[in-house]
Amino acid sequence: MAPAPPAASAQEQARLVEESKRLAAYQAVKDHLHPDYTRIGIGSGSTVVYVVEAIAALGAAATSGMLFYPTGAQSEELIEVAGLRLQTINKLPAGAQLDVAFDGADEVDEALNLIKGGGACLWQEKIVATSAKKFVCVADFRKLSKRLGTSWTKGIPIEVLPMAANRVLAELRSMGAPDARIRPGLPGKAGAIVTDNGMWIIDAPFPPLRLPTDEDGQAGGEAGIWTVDALADRLIKLPGVAEIGLFHGQN
Ligand code: 5RP
Repeated sequence: MAPAPPAASAQEQARLVEESKRLAAYQAVKDHLHPDYTRIGIGSGSTVVYVVEAIAALGAAATSGMLFYPTGAQSEELIEVAGLRLQTINKLPAGAQLDVAFDGADEVDEALNLIKGGGACLWQEKIVATSAKKFVCVADFRKLSKRLGTSWTKGIPIEVLPMAANRVLAELRSMGAPDARIRPGLPGKAGAIVTDNGMWIIDAPFPPLRLPTDEDGQAGGEAGIWTVDALADRLIKLPGVAEIGLFHGQN
């Protein structure tokens, strides 16, 4: 057996991750941004920076007929700085859809269910994703897991009304996420993080989520074992929850 290659230095590892994000983004734009498209959703996060870079690199002539719909303040700024035309989802005519939406993810399972919201933009991300005919998840090699909650262990991001946060926390703890907690503010900022929508985020680490096809996949939360669908259905119904970072059933 060949000896294991020396572990990459932290710097080399970081370079590889950036390169993977960039390659995934350019490939996604090449494969899924049709020249005839006019309405494009743009997600949030560090991978999407490369998506916007790849779109801008097509040139003004290629993108002048396209409107770009953001998922929050970061995404809005990316679109504007790249010189692309900004539009809001509220201006989408009744019955119309975006042609495509590009976004990143924190974790992706074998059935293409996602955990999103590491950047606290999940609510607007879900609105834009579900407004699109086609959702393209741009993810590098670190993001794919057999089951959600395996590599992204910080927990499922849940956007909550601040006045209900403690009530939601208590529910989550009784549902099998004893370490659920309110996400703190960014470094130097006291208190909870406040989303673009004036809400808070709770991160709820559940044991890895099952798929209905798993042998124990019918479990509906006993002993904290949940399928993606059962957990998503329960979480979204908790009073005080605005939106959840489980994106499921959209593949
Ligand atoms: C933000 C998100 C991001 O898409 C997710 O956190 C992935 O981010 P990155 O591309 O930086 O890894 O859901 O709310």
